[in-house]
Amino acid sequence: MDTSKLAERLVEAGQSHLLQFWSQLSPEEQAEMIVDLESMNFMEINNFYKNAMKTSGQTSQEKMDTRMEPVPRDVLGSITRDHECLKGWEEEGLRCISENKVAVLLLAGGQGTRLGVSFPKGMYDVGLPSHKTLFQIQAERIRRLEQLAEKQYSRKCCIPWYIMTSGRTMDMTKKFFTDHKYFGLKEENVSFFQQGMLPALDFNGKIILEGKGKLSMAPDGNGGLYRALGTQNVVKDMETRGISYIHVYCVDNILVKVADPAFIGFCTLKGADCGAKVVEKTNPTEAVGVVCKVNGRYQVVEYSEITLATAEKRSTDGRLMFSSANIANHFFTLTFLKEIVRTHEPQLQHHVAQKKIPFVNTQGQLIKPDKPNGIKMEKFVFDIFQFAKTFVVYEVLREDEFSPLKNADSQDGKDNPTTARQALMSLHHRWILNAGGHFVDENGTPIPAIPRVGPAGTVAPELSQNLKDGTDLPIKCEISPLVSYGGEGLEHLVNGKAFQPTLVIDENGVHELVKNGL
Ligand code: UD1
Repeated sequence: MDTSKLAERLVEAGQSHLLQFWSQLSPEEQAEMIVDLESMNFMEINNFYKNAMKTSGQTSQEKMDTRMEPVPRDVLGSITRDHECLKGWEEEGLRCISENKVAVLLLAGGQGTRLGVSFPKGMYDVGLPSHKTLFQIQAERIRRLEQLAEKQYSRKCCIPWYIMTSGRTMDMTKKFFTDHKYFGLKEENVSFFQQGMLPALDFNGKIILEGKGKLSMAPDGNGGLYRALGTQNVVKDMETRGISYIHVYCVDNILVKVADPAFIGFCTLKGADCGAKVVEKTNPTEAVGVVCKVNGRYQVVEYSEITLATAEKRSTDGRLMFSSANIANHFFTLTFLKEIVRTHEPQLQHHVAQKKIPFVNTQGQLIKPDKPNGIKMEKFVFDIFQFAKTFVVYEVLREDEFSPLKNADSQDGKDNPTTARQALMSLHHRWILNAGGHFVDENGTPIPAIPRVGPAGTVAPELSQNLKDGTDLPIKCEISPLVSYGGEGLEHLVNGKAFQPTLVIDENGVHELVKNGL
């Protein structure tokens, strides 16, 4: 195999170490490595490295903090403070959906490192009574919302679903959808596309080898979206379908209101080209980015980029000064996205994260370092807020809309399968109560509507048994998204009735699993 041209390119780019084990590779390994190397633009990678190091050096935390300002009230819509507007926003959003103007775009190219699974996070089953995965829950919310829009405006419609995957997640994601018949959605309305990958670099900008013939590669961050939108013709497809508004969201939030009509209506009625949904941040050390202004421009300052002193600052009303927690739900007009893809994408800088990256040493042995030995470069999805002409922020209730799955289960853990499952069941419990139903135990005694919490966060005695025997708090209850998107349409099923948990309401009816021995 003639590798002289490739070797020349590598020397020119200062990356010739990549071929140090060449003679030890089998012909198949050599062929695979050639494919990987031929597809890489080393000069571009070197430039990314230079720019990323320059900007990450410039934005020292102290400097960033002094330039941060909270979101002004006039761009903020709130589900609680502006309650009287909610119905109007929702109707407007449903109207846009009914006119086939709304698409949803799922960011699902991450590697789920913290959760520690080898398959895409959307395939995760958090242990609900139905054992639905995150993908299925989202698909069913889309189906229900299409029905709601159709009913309200008497016309057939569809919400196309674009799913961004990466080299690591594409095949498994596609197969999962095919195996599950697209969860009842039409195949032609679900499109998969792939974001780019970038190599991990050591602190001198040299590409790291994770095997003798294998480069250490990772997806280029959820902001890799904007390049992929262009290269994979996604924007074109949206145009052809007549899409005007796009709801972009992350895969891991079990409560995500996919294509939330109220959010879409709020953004369109405000004439926004870009919007972010937030919840109130109450704990200064929570691992969420905050939406704010820096140098007069909107952006998200990530949890890794804010100092504790700034995160802890409070306003006169006692709330955190930087309280708009980014829950990774964004609204964009297609016009705005087109402008980004065409003009601004190359201006987006990579964020640098120092990581422990497994590598082969010069003897060819695999080493797993115990301290950071290199960097990964990522673009972030919200880095385009700065280009918005009209930017808005929409604040919703955490308990209704945000419970991300980030970590594996552990004692006293956060954002894990148990907290995600409990958040969904607790929301559905509240929907049942609001619709006039209630819960009783096996003796017919009413179960208190809100679990009583004892001193210092302990559980009320009548509920402590649940914890002892391993049963979950809150009450076990699950409502299929095919029956209700946001708590609507339940009265005729539950009003005036008492249910014994575990309660499941789905398209086949109302089921009390324990009572019926299921
Ligand atoms: C993200 C937000 C953070 C927010 C938090 C809320 C970003 C950069 N940060 O943080 O501000 O407070 O969610 O839960 O958005 N992904 C890709 N490709 C990649 C990397 C990630 O598609 O290359 C997707 C993941 O599949 C996931 C989403 O982006 O759906 C968020 O990724 P994750 O790494 O979990 O972000 P966080 O650090 O939790």
